[in-house]
Amino acid sequence: MNPHDESESFRCVRADAREPEGYRRVLGEAKAAFLHTDPPYCLLTRRRKGGDLRDPRAHKKIDRDPIVRFETVRDYRAFTEAWMTRAVAHLTPDAPLAIWTNLLGKEPILAVARSLGYGHLRGEFVWGKRTTDKNANEQLLRVYEVALVLSRTPAPVLAPGDAPTVWAVVGGYDDDGEAQRWGGHPHHKPFSVVEPLVRTWSRPGDWVLDPFAGSGSMPAAALRLGRKAACLEVVPEWAERVAGRLRETAAPSPR
Ligand SMILES: C[S@@+](CC[C@H](N)C(=O)[O-])C[C@H]1O[C@@H](n2cnc3c(N)ncnc32)[C@H](O)[C@@H]1O
Repeated sequence: MNPHDESESFRCVRADAREPEGYRRVLGEAKAAFLHTDPPYCLLTRRRKGGDLRDPRAHKKIDRDPIVRFETVRDYRAFTEAWMTRAVAHLTPDAPLAIWTNLLGKEPILAVARSLGYGHLRGEFVWGKRTTDKNANEQLLRVYEVALVLSRTPAPVLAPGDAPTVWAVVGGYDDDGEAQRWGGHPHHKPFSVVEPLVRTWSRPGDWVLDPFAGSGSMPAAALRLGRKAACLEVVPEWAERVAGRLRETAAPSPR
């Protein structure tokens, strides 16, 4: 891959987001204008009384399973520090961050971002995930994942004629059928859920960086909206799948 080929609209490689190599391969000397990412969530290792692991999947290596578990929240903070320090070195100084997390991951992510100079929490973008729990008069939404939007500078004051920023969206896990098409990643997000973030926090032609691509919901949305997508993913099967998805998004074949 030639990192200086201006005609490329996406680059995605198999790489560990805690290491510098992947970022260099996808961005070269270019800087991304928006970090939009969905890192592993702060899920803790499950143990039986007495300390034995409760979930045999926790024995699996990271390159076999997209779910990662951490022993403590402090370990999660160390993981966050390792990847975020690398990632922000490849951003323009005014690039905002939109980082998806489960509720337990919010504090460690905010603390690391603050320590790296992203002291302004512009807001929390909430996904009300439609559940199957409903009756004729009621539909239950579940909030499991939110995106924290951070910047180095405070929000400008809105003029009366300015459009408001969108801070909430409602949608199901696979409203657009893309999860089913691309492997059913447990943390897939439909286009309608990530679209407001991409539109609000980046411009067409910008590089958008996602160091944790999974099945590629963030980079695919960036491409659909005329941005350029740079992404990493450590699990080989997912890295391959996301590359295929982005090839198709960049040059859709008739279906
Ligand atoms: C929350 S999921 C991302 C889901 C994605 N947004 C989607 O739509 O499918 C996190 C992803 O990060 C990957 N991952 C875990 N540790 C990583 C690391 N150190 N470097 C790069 N990717 C990693 C996992 O394999 C997983 O696919």
